[in-house]
Formats: sequence, structure tokens, C-alpha cells
Amino acid sequence: MRPRFLRSQAEARPRRHLFSVSTAVLLLLGRASSVAAQAVATIPITTANTALVLQTDASNRLNTVYFGAPLVNVADYAGTATQYAFNDTNAGFYPNTYTPAGTWNLSEPALAVTHADGNQSLELKYVRHETKPVDAHSSLTCILLRDPVYAFEVTLCYQVWPQENVIEQWTEIQHREKKAVTLNKFASANLYFTQKDFYLTTFQGQYLKEAQPAETKLLQGMRSVESKLGTRAMLLQTPNFILGLGQPAAENEGTVLVGQLAWSGNFKLEYEVDSYQNLRFLAGINPYQSAYALPAGQTFRTPSLLYAVSRHGTGEASRHLQSWARQYRVLDGQGQRLTLLNNWEATYFDFNEQKLTSLIQDTKALGVNMFLLDDGWFGNKYPRNNDDAGLGDWQENRQKLPHGLGYLVKEAQKEGVKFGIWIEPEMVNPKSELYEKHPDWVIRQPARPEIYYRNQLVLDLANPQVQDFVYGVVDGLFTKNPELAFIKWDCNAPIHNAYSSYLTKKGTPQNLYVDYVRGLYSVLQRLRAKYPKVPMMLCSGGGGRGDYELLKYFTEFWPSDDTEPVERIFMQWNYSYFFPAIVSDNHVTDWGKQPLKYRIDVASMGKLGFDIVFSKLSEQDKAFAQQAVRSYDGFKDVVWQGEQYRLANPYEQDIAAFAYVTADKSRAIVFNYLTDTRQKITATPRPVRLAGLDPQKSYRIKELNLYPGTTSTLPPDKEYSGDFLLNVGFNPNVTLTRTSVVLEVTAVAH
Ligand code: DGJ
Repeated sequence: MRPRFLRSQAEARPRRHLFSVSTAVLLLLGRASSVAAQAVATIPITTANTALVLQTDASNRLNTVYFGAPLVNVADYAGTATQYAFNDTNAGFYPNTYTPAGTWNLSEPALAVTHADGNQSLELKYVRHETKPVDAHSSLTCILLRDPVYAFEVTLCYQVWPQENVIEQWTEIQHREKKAVTLNKFASANLYFTQKDFYLTTFQGQYLKEAQPAETKLLQGMRSVESKLGTRAMLLQTPNFILGLGQPAAENEGTVLVGQLAWSGNFKLEYEVDSYQNLRFLAGINPYQSAYALPAGQTFRTPSLLYAVSRHGTGEASRHLQSWARQYRVLDGQGQRLTLLNNWEATYFDFNEQKLTSLIQDTKALGVNMFLLDDGWFGNKYPRNNDDAGLGDWQENRQKLPHGLGYLVKEAQKEGVKFGIWIEPEMVNPKSELYEKHPDWVIRQPARPEIYYRNQLVLDLANPQVQDFVYGVVDGLFTKNPELAFIKWDCNAPIHNAYSSYLTKKGTPQNLYVDYVRGLYSVLQRLRAKYPKVPMMLCSGGGGRGDYELLKYFTEFWPSDDTEPVERIFMQWNYSYFFPAIVSDNHVTDWGKQPLKYRIDVASMGKLGFDIVFSKLSEQDKAFAQQAVRSYDGFKDVVWQGEQYRLANPYEQDIAAFAYVTADKSRAIVFNYLTDTRQKITATPRPVRLAGLDPQKSYRIKELNLYPGTTSTLPPDKEYSGDFLLNVGFNPNVTLTRTSVVLEVTAVAH
């Protein structure tokens, strides 16, 4: 069959399907403003500290020709490619900015398709580009590439926040072929670095052992990091990365990219060192069992690859990313959060109104903002008394809660605290009325045995009826209980037996992994349209869902069910490479052997919560907890909104130290911990060098969160110059009897 030729954009008829903003921008571009097709186009995409430069070659293909410090003279970018000689017949294709499959390219492609006529070849030539401001803080560059033979085109999009040095890039794919085109691979980004010597830190884990870092030097060949779990996708591997260019990643030196593929389903990040020791980095949805059928006229927008760049190490890169996230990404990232008491570890499934009422009273007594009712409140035909029944039946269990949720909400109101609730609306137990009524809503292979994870299965969110159901669960809760102040949205099972009866009927069964995630986003968009502000926590029994796409709709996430505080220090250290403290939900529980003070101090480096029976604490512990909550209320804004500095790395020594510093450098909260109690440490041997302070200012240091009956061993009322604290440091005197030391550093007005 002869391919259909793409008409020029000027001739293009308006399409019925939605185009995203960036594509529309390109469609609107007149020929006058476009760059002539055969002239060399040089496209610098720049932030305060970085330039990513793209340029067309003699064949009008687009290459990445530079990634480095911005040049003073913009005209100089045009000449960067002339200084490299990688373009022999083997290496010429490596720098391509979005590498197609099936024609000249023999390396790992960014995009591989099967056209409507069955042909698998693709060529992408530069057509035009445009850069325009999005708002006062960011700009968007869109580059249109087109296949000269098929009616198929791709728009590469780069949104840039220069001040935060953050780049978000994605790709939009569309065609006007006669039938659907199959996207066999569809990367978000295809970066290229020529620095030589690349060090990749990945973060893998498992349940209770999330976010474990491993740094490796990338050697020639391919290293790929991926998930095929479907939901709860980043349980074993994460799409988070630290890339050290030219040297291993270090906290305060060297060029690094710190970033994430913002996608809540299967992902694949591929790092290929080519024959010239350059690095090709491809990131996108995992094409595993996902050859995606894209109808003509629709735009496939890939997820975003996000990264912050620093030439001064991971510390600065994290601060860039955290600051960007708070300002521009996380729902209510600069707002407030609710401290809470959660009943999960206090009761598990075994509760009734009386027990909960007593915990609501504890909430008040402890001094936190909200009581959070966890799993186990629903299901009647199949009561949720264990994790093997009831999931999906979101009606109050009449035995446990004879007066319904409304009664508990009122009890909370009486105590002057808010009320939040746990749901897991994407999942179903086979022992449930939902499963009985709608077996076709469940992801399962009809002719094969079911495979359970925590006795449950995943609902088919690719199906609009299921989307309506999930929306209805949340909407119903709010409609019946308008005072509900918080949702903990859990998600515990990955997808086994990936099969959607809905998509199979539609003729696109292989779209499931992608359409599931899109279905979820669509539910969240609807919910946020109606309930724009209600705080919601992403939970998945741990780090399976810390991602920047979901954080558009959620205010926070649950890093791990492992709340043992020493483990948590390591985990919170690792998560902080990517996320600001305000999104990290840290609960004080009974896990581990550390004293309550240690546990509360660790949980205070984020959003503080409790999962304990407060009334059963000793009187001293009670008094300490109440005082620590008050103290937290006094400094939480510094932790949530301040600049974070990782001061002492527990992977390198027996202590950990973190600082959070206000933007005006007038106040800092510094957390110090002994992390290895096997050593008979008698006192921290050397000072912790502080960071982020003003060398010109003077500061006073006060110890906070002292346990009742103890006094600080630190000199009272002494003043230090910022210069001293930055260069010499301060010894927090962490010892075996002072395993956790919180300091408030305040500028002194003279
Ligand atoms: C997993 C979560 O991580 C826990 O906090 C708790 O909510 C349980 N699920 C409830 O089933």
C-alpha cells in the first residue's frame, strides 16, 4: 500500500481529538515565523546553569550537540558540533535527539512504530520550532519533526524553569494515517552526553526496604532500569536517577542531573554508553506488552522526564528540584499540612466506635490536627476484618461502626480535631460484593487462575465505568461527610494477569498498562476539579508511588511501612535527593528500639504523624510527645519550605545530620543522629559543618526537643559567626546517651 503523505500544517484540518497546548502552538505557527527547512537550525534550551543545545545536520535530522555550561555568546552554540568528530558511519547516529527505528538508525531507538500499512520504518526530519514563555517563571520550546514519507509527526517539548535549573521534557506523537499506528516504543526523552565517564545512582528496593541507592560507573553497552509491576510500579526499582557527568555524584561538587520519569506505571530508563564513550539516555513508559494502538488524529503525549541540573553536586540539584516541586508541581506545595494520629498500627483491623473515640481523644491530647481512620471500616456481606475480604465494598461496616462515619466525624469535631479516612479504591478482594457484581471490572485472565498480592486484585481503570466507580467512591465519601479533611489513598497490589475485558472488546487489549494509568489520572482530574484542595496522601505500603505526576493531585506520600527510625533516616536521606520534606509523611510508631525522642525527631523531618496509642505512653513520654508537637508546630515551616542541606552522610560515618534553612538565612533547624549504636561512641569526634547560613551574620544555637528531666550539654547563649559555623562547624555532642539532637540556629540582630 502506498503511504499517505502528510499535508502541510497550514493545510491541516482542525482535528476532532484533543491537542495539547504545545502541539497547538506549532500548528498555529505561520510559515513566516518558522525556520527554513534546510537552513541549519540551532536550538539552545537554557537554564541559569545549563545549556542543552540541539542542531540540525546536513540531512535535516536533529542532534544533541552540547550539554554543559551556558555560553556567554549565544551565537557560539552554532559552532559546538564542529569541535567533535564522532560522526563516522558507526557513530553518526548516536547524538540524534529522538532516534527513530527502521531506517538509518541501528542503535536503541526512542520511537519504533508499525504504520497503518504494516511498514515499520520511520524517519524524523526537523520542520520548525518555537520557544515561548509559559508564565513568569518558565518557557516552553516545541520542535516539530516529521516523517517525509508517512503522515506521521512528533513534537519534542521542553519546559524550562531557568532559576531552578529544572527541565521537563516530553514528546507528543500524532499521525493521519488510514488506521491506527502501533507505537512499539515511545520514549519521553532521548538525551546525549559527551562528558566521558558517567556514574549512575539508581534506587531500588523491596517492601520495607525502599529507595536503596547503588552507584555504578556506566560501561560500554546498555544498562536499563525498569518496572513491569503496572501499579505500585516503583516498589522494586524507581524511575529516580542521579547521573554524575565526568565524576561520581558528590554532595557539593561536580555536574549532576537529579531527576525522575514522572509516570505512575511501567517505566524504562536506558543508559547506553556508545563506542565513543558518550552516553545516550532514553527514558519513557516501558514498552513491555504495551504496543500501543494510536488512532489517527489523536495525540499521544508521553510522560515527562524531569531533572534538575547542578554543577555543584547533588545538594544543590536537590535544592533546585525541591524548590521547583514546592512552587510549581506538588499540590499545595507551599501550603500547610495536617499533623495526625493514625489508628493503623494502634488497632489494625480490630476496632469499634469506642476504641476509635478514645483515639480521637488521644489526637486532641497529643495536640495534632487530625485523626486518620485507616483500613477496616467497611464491608458488610464480607466484613473487612482482615486483608482477605471486603475491599471494594465502601459502605461502613455496621458492626464496627453502627452509627456510620458521620458519628466519628462528629466525635472529632467535638474534640476540635479534623477527621481523615483511608481508602484503596483501585483494588478489590475476590471476597467482595464488588467482585461478585462486576467480575469484568477486574484485571484478570478469564481462563487462568487468579494471582493475588495481599489477597487482592486490581480494578481495570482503563474502563470508563470503573473510573466512574472510583470517582464515585471518593465523591460519595465527601458528599456524605463534607467535613472529611484528608484521604489516605492506598494501592497495594501490582498487576498480574494483565488483561482488560473492556479493552479487549474495544480491540486494543495491549493498551492496558498505559490506559490504566491514564484512567487513574483522569479520575484524579475529575476529583480535583470538584475538590481542589483537600489534602490527599499517596500510599502503597511504601515507596511505590512517589512520583511527580501523581503529586500534581496529591499533597504528600508515604515513603515506607518501615518506620524504624534509623532505617528511616537512610530512607529519608535518599528520598530527599528528589522530594521536599513537605511531601514526606513520617509517622512515629513502636517500631525499633530507639527512644520516643529519637523517633519523633526523625519523623519531624517531614510531615509529622503518629501511629501509636498515646494514652498508653508513660507520663514522661506523653509530656515529651506533647511538647515535641508544639515545638514542631513552631519550626515546621522551616522544614517544609526551607532549603535542605544534607550535612553528614550516614553511609559514610556513624552520624547523620540534616539542616533546613529559611530563604533569608535567619533561621535553621538542624537534626543530628547517631546512626550506628554498635560503636561505643562517647562523643561526636568532629564538628558538623553547617551550610546555607550567611557568613556575615551571627547566630545563636539552642537545643530543642529535650526530653523531660534532661538538660542540654551544649553551651547556652553563645554566639557564633556564620563564617565559623560554615567553615569550622558545630559539634552537636551526639553520644550514646544523646542519640538525637535537634538544634535551632537563629540569627542574632545587632
Ligand atoms: C499499607 C499502608 O502502608 C499502611 O499504612 C496501612 O494503611 C495498610 N496498608 C492498611 O491496609
